[in-house]
Parts: sequence; structure tokens; C-alpha cells
Amino acid sequence: MNDNNVHVEGDVNISGERLKWDSQHTDLLTQQILADDARYFLHQSMSSPCLDVLQECNGCEIATVSGRTLLDFHGNNVHQAGYGNDYVVKRINEQLQKLPFSPRRYTNQPAVNLAKKLADLLPGDLNRSLFTPAGTSAIGMAIKLARVVTGKHKVISHWDSFHGASLDAISVGGESDFKKHMGPMMPGVIHIPPPDSYRNILGGNGHDPHTHADYLEYVIRKEGDIGAFIAETIRNTDVQVPSKAYWQRIREICDKYGVLLILDEIPIALGRTGKMFAFEHFDIEPDILCLGKGLGGGIIPFAAMVTRDKYNVAQDISLGHYTHEKSPLGSVAALATIEFLEKENIFEKVIQDGLWIKEELNHLKDKFPIIGDVRGIGLLWAIELVKDRETKEKASAEAEAFMYDCMRGGLSFKVSQGNVIQLSPALTVSRKELQKALSILALSLENF
Ligand SMILES: Cc1ncc(COP(=O)(O)O)c(C=O)c1O
Repeated sequence: MNDNNVHVEGDVNISGERLKWDSQHTDLLTQQILADDARYFLHQSMSSPCLDVLQECNGCEIATVSGRTLLDFHGNNVHQAGYGNDYVVKRINEQLQKLPFSPRRYTNQPAVNLAKKLADLLPGDLNRSLFTPAGTSAIGMAIKLARVVTGKHKVISHWDSFHGASLDAISVGGESDFKKHMGPMMPGVIHIPPPDSYRNILGGNGHDPHTHADYLEYVIRKEGDIGAFIAETIRNTDVQVPSKAYWQRIREICDKYGVLLILDEIPIALGRTGKMFAFEHFDIEPDILCLGKGLGGGIIPFAAMVTRDKYNVAQDISLGHYTHEKSPLGSVAALATIEFLEKENIFEKVIQDGLWIKEELNHLKDKFPIIGDVRGIGLLWAIELVKDRETKEKASAEAEAFMYDCMRGGLSFKVSQGNVIQLSPALTVSRKELQKALSILALSLENF
């Protein structure tokens, strides 16, 4: 199979580069665990057969059973507070001794405290929460709520977006990799091109509110019966940061047509962009906000949907009904994570780190023609690799080889959309660790 054909999202575990990587595992324990993993798990893309075997994760790093240490600039976006954060671990341990689980129909103090904390943090009347163990089910609840509130089932979303792996989430998601062999999808989903400051799918300028946002209005008018528009405020995978004008225009359009704006901030809230919530950069408010990943402190699977007080209108049905809905452990993990980020004033640090990274990555861009674009915000950055800056042809095979090369050098990250190096370290990352990561990238770029 041609490697270029299989590169869409993430690294591919059947590619030539992966086979080369696998053949370099000399440690017997590693070989044995990888073989057992491959024997007993169902094989799937971006999972089994796996890359390596982990022994520990701490702060910004992961360590393998063979003793290799890597700076983890992927972390599945759960490591805002750093892996094994002492403050979070201590609070979870304390809760574990008191009330580890809360059965349905009962509540508990940590769950109520978290719902209240989110209401205090969020603007306006965004003060009604539902919790669930996974981001994908927060998305599902948001879609259901939008149907109940508006009486309309149609949803507009972006091509290339990712909103989770359940059938409803892959339906609104825009990546073909996740839909392959899965149809029929949920009816009533219409995809539109996302804002893209590098490739500008609709022409014009990806930051121009009168191209991509106006296209949304066009579809709403033509299609009719749209209940919701769902989007990542800032796309996590290949890192697209729309302009304030774009988001303000989207808010205006949603208000004009009675369409609920669902913002998916599952990977990017809680400080990754330098603000607690990414929408704060754009002076807008969503009607429904989905949170997850780092919400559980990188330890407990936990997610939330928060909406407006006036949308508390589904008393007679179950929007969620997830067994671990009011998880006391998830709730204290989330509270401790939020408290940690606040008390350390991580937001200011992330903004300063972001300014530094931007400069450093732009130096790399000046030096290495394979870099077509550098973009990002806070501690979420993308380096887009191209064969030619004029044609912008994706350098996908090179991106994958680059990823393995950097892993050999001690830096782990994910490749998105085939050719985009995505960098998202723990927010606690030190400047020294950032410098080390940048040196590994620079050294490896010499090979391409
Ligand atoms: C933007 C976005 N939404 C939703 C999800 C789904 O979250 P989970 O994996 O917890 O179901 C993800 C996970 O990667 C995500 O990146």
C-alpha cells in the first residue's frame, strides 16, 4: 500500500516506517508485551499493534519499560496539569477513601461543587451541567439537547473535524477515516468547509469572516430546519485558529436563525490556549459547551456538557443516563485540576510560552523549506510539512519518518491530516523542556 494513501489522521500502524520502528525493539520484555497486546486486543488504526510499552508517566514525560524517556507533546490532550500531578493525585486518593462511586439517583458534594464551579467560571447563564465519562458522550448529549430545545434534528458541522468515536460523534465529525465501513450515519448532518488559514478551501482568506462564515448562513437558508451548528472553537488536530471576526459572525448567524451553537472544547479548554476556555479569545458565548480529556486531571475519564439555564427543559427524558455520571472521583479530579491551573496562574505562563514557541518555530520555518506553515496559540502548535511551498503538496511520508526520527531523539508527538506535526505538551512544561523539544525538532529537520 502506498504510505501516502493511508495517512489521514494520526500515524499508521501498518506503514513501512512503523515496521522499521518495530524491528528496532531489542528489549525482550517490550517485545513480549507488544506481541501479547497485538494478540489479545482487536487491531485498530492508531492503537494495537502499539508503538511501545509504557512503564511510567510523570510531568511532561513518558517512560517505556525498556528505560527510554520521551517528552510527550501529544498526551491525548489529557495532561494540562502534567502527568501524575501531586495536587490532583492527593485529592483523588482522599476521595477514594471516602466515596469512590455514586449510584444513580443520589448526588454527592464533589459533583455539586464541580457543577457550581463550572457555573461560576462560565459567563452568562451557562450554568447547567451534565457529566459523563467520555467526551464523545458529552457530544451525544449536546446533540440530543439541541433536538429537544429547537425541535429540529439537523446539525451542521465542519469537514475534517473530530468530535469522538461513537456513531453520533463520527456522524457530525468530518474525517472519512472514522466513517469508513460505518454507514449509514446519523441523518440530518450537513458538513461545510472549515476555516483554514493555510489552504483556504473556499478561496479568499481563511480568516475572512465573509467566506467561511457566510457559507454557513447560505447552507442554513438553503437547507432549513437546522437545530445546531457544532464546531471545535480552535481545531485541535491540525490546529486551526479562526479569527475573532469569524466567530463573531458565526454567533450572529446562529442567533439570527435560532440555531444553537455547540462548541467542542474537549481537548483545548482548561488553559491550553492561555485561557480557561478557548471561546474567551473571541468574545462569544456558546449555547452548549463540551469539555473532557484534561477535565479528569489525566487520571479519571471524565467529561461534561454545560448549557444555558433556560435549556433546562428535558426533565421527562434522559439526556445522559451514564453509569458514572456523577462520579465523585471524576469531580474531585476536575476540581483539583481547575484549582491547580488557577493557583499556579498557568494561563499567563502558557501565553508567554506560546510567544516564545511562535518565534522559535518561525526560525525553523525560515531555515527549512519543508515547513510550509507554522500556526498555533498558547501551548498548541502545528508545523505543516510540504513538498513544495508553492503547490503546498503534503509531505506525508516525510512527516511520518520525521515523527519516528524525533521519537528516537526523545520527543513524542502526533501527526495530523497526514502532514501536520501537532505539538501539545503538558501546560506545566518548563522552558528548558521546551528548548530540548525544539532542539530535537531542529536536529531531525536536518534530515529532510
Ligand atoms: C475535539 C474532540 N472532541 C471529542 C473527542 C472525544 O473525546 P473522548 O475520546 O473522551 O470520547 C475528542 C477526542 O480526541 C476530541 O479531540
